[in-house]
Amino acid sequence: MKLGIVKETWPGERRVAASPAVVAKWVKAGWIVQVERGAGVLASYPDSHYETAGATIVEPRAAWADSDIVVKLRAPILNPDGSCEADQMRDGATLVSYIQPAQSAELLAKLAAKKLTVLAMDQVPRISRAQKMDALSSMANISGYRAVIEAANRFGSFFTGQFTAAGKVPPAKVLIIGAGVAGLAALGAAKGLGAIVRAFDVRPAVEEQVKSLGGEFLTVSIKESGEGQGGYAKEMSKEFLDAEYALFRAQAREVDIVITTALIPGRPAPKLWFADMVELMKPGSVIVDMAAEQGGNCELTKPGEVIEHKGVTIVGYTDLASRMAHVASDLYGTNLLHFLDEMGGAAGHKVDHANDAVRPALVLEQGETRWPPPPAPAKPEAAKPAAPPPPAAVVSKPPEHRPAVKSSHGPAPRPPSRAVGIVMSLIGLVAAIGFLYVRFGRAEASAGVETAQLLQHLTVFVMAVFVGFQVVWNVAPALHTPLMSVTNAISGIIVVGGLLGALTPGGLPNGVLVAVIATFFATINIAGGFLVTRRMLAMFRK
Ligand code: NAI
Repeated sequence: MKLGIVKETWPGERRVAASPAVVAKWVKAGWIVQVERGAGVLASYPDSHYETAGATIVEPRAAWADSDIVVKLRAPILNPDGSCEADQMRDGATLVSYIQPAQSAELLAKLAAKKLTVLAMDQVPRISRAQKMDALSSMANISGYRAVIEAANRFGSFFTGQFTAAGKVPPAKVLIIGAGVAGLAALGAAKGLGAIVRAFDVRPAVEEQVKSLGGEFLTVSIKESGEGQGGYAKEMSKEFLDAEYALFRAQAREVDIVITTALIPGRPAPKLWFADMVELMKPGSVIVDMAAEQGGNCELTKPGEVIEHKGVTIVGYTDLASRMAHVASDLYGTNLLHFLDEMGGAAGHKVDHANDAVRPALVLEQGETRWPPPPAPAKPEAAKPAAPPPPAAVVSKPPEHRPAVKSSHGPAPRPPSRAVGIVMSLIGLVAAIGFLYVRFGRAEASAGVETAQLLQHLTVFVMAVFVGFQVVWNVAPALHTPLMSVTNAISGIIVVGGLLGALTPGGLPNGVLVAVIATFFATINIAGGFLVTRRMLAMFRK
C-alpha cells in the first residue's frame, strides 16, 4: 500500500501530516511512504530526514496521484475557479485529513464525484479507546500551551511572584474561560510559569480537573449544568449567562490575563467577554481568544490578528498549533499512525463499519455519503470499560472521558471497602502483636501488672495507627514531602525511645525485644525517607 504525504498549501500553515519518526514506523510496518518534496520544511523536517526514515521524496503530482491513501492535515483547498487540490487523486483512492463535513458540502460533492473514500480526523470520537487517534485533542493541547506563551510574550511582567532586593512583584492572575482540552492545557502551562490561575466552565464535571492542576474553580450561584452530548457543552439559559457575565465583570478588574476557549459544538463561539469587560481590565493586560476562528468569545476579537483596545492586547490567532509546527506535526502523525493501525495497517487496510472509533470519522465510502454516522448503540452500564488514567499534566480528551484526577485540594473519595480493609488489617496486626506479647510475657511477670501496662500501650498504639492513617490518607499529594519530614522526626523519637527501652533494666517483660523491634522499624522508616528524598532531588537535577 502506498501512503502519500502531501505539502500543506493553506496560507501560513507550517505543519505537515507526519514527522520522519512516524514515517519510520510506517515503513517498518510495511507501508510504502512517499513524501512531497519540501512538505516538512516549515516544520523543521528536511527531506533528507524523511529519506533516512525510509520514504521516497516525490514531486507534488506523484504524491497525490500515485498513492492509495493520501494523508494530510487541512482539508483539501477548494479554489474559487471550482478546482480542488484533491482533483489530482486517483479515482477510488482514500483521503485522511481534517474535513469538517458539516461545513464542507461543496468539497464533499467534489470528492464524491471521484469516488473517493474520505475519513475525517476531526470526527474521530472523543472516547477512551480512540484517545490515541484524537487529533483535535492533540492540537488543542498544544494550542492551550501556546496561548499562554503568546500571553506571556505580550505581558509586561512576571507570571510568578518575586521578592527582589528592589521590591516585591506580585504573581500574574490568569482567568481561563472554558476548561476543556485547550483550557486545561493553558491552566497547566500558566500554573507552571507560577501564575495564580482561575477557571470557569459551565460543566461542573471539570471542577475536579481544574483543582487537580492547581487552579481555582469559579462558580456562579445559579445551579444549571452545561453538560451536553459526548463530553461537550450545551447552550446555557439567559439567567445563567447573566450570572456568568456578572462574575466576569468582577474578575475583569482583578486579572491580568484572560484566555478564552469556550465552545459549543456546531454553534458560533458564545460571546462572553464584552467591550466593557475589556475596558475594566488594567492597561497592559492580555486576552488570548482561542475561539477566534468560530467568531471569538471576546466581542472585540479580530480573527488572525493582534489588536489593542485601551491598553489591553487582544490576541486572535487562529493558528496556535501551527506556531508549534514541529511537535504538532509529530503528534498529528502519531494520531494518523494509530488511526491507520486501527483500520488494519498496511496489510489489512479496510473500512470496518463495526469499529466505533473509525465509523464516526467515515464521511465518504467510494463516493457514497456515510456522514453523519448512525447513533452509537447504547452500551449497558456494566459493560463500560474503565479508562486508563492519563498523565497528570497532559490533557488529551474531554474530562467526561477522563477518569477523575485526584484533587490536591481536599480528600478524594475512596472506596470505603479499601479504607476499611486497611484499618482492619492494622488492627489485626496490633492484636497479633498484643497476643504474642501476652503469650510470652505471662511466663515472667504477674498477669495483673502486665495486662494493665499492655492495655495502656495498645491503646496508644491503636490511636497512633488511626491518627496516622487519617493524616496520611487525607494529606494532599503536594504536602507529602513535608509529611515525610515529620514522620522522619517522629521515627527519630521512636529510635531514641526504643534504645532507652532496650538499655534500661527492669522494664516490661520482653520489653527489650519490643524496643529492638521498634528501633528496627523506625530506622527503616528514616532510611527509606532519606532514599526517597534523594531520588526526588535527583529528578530535579540536570
Ligand atoms: P472543548 O469542547 O474541549 O472545550 C470547550 C469548553 O468550553 C468546554 O469545556 C465547555 O464546557 C466550555 N464552555 C462552553 N460554553 C461555555 C460558557 N458559556 N462559559 C464557560 N465555558 C463554556 O474544546 P477544545 O478542544 O478545548 O477547544 C477550545 C477552543 O479552542 C475551541 O474554540 C477550538 O476551536 C479552539 N482552538 C483554537 C486553536 C487556535 O489556534 N486558536 C487551536 C485549537 C483549538
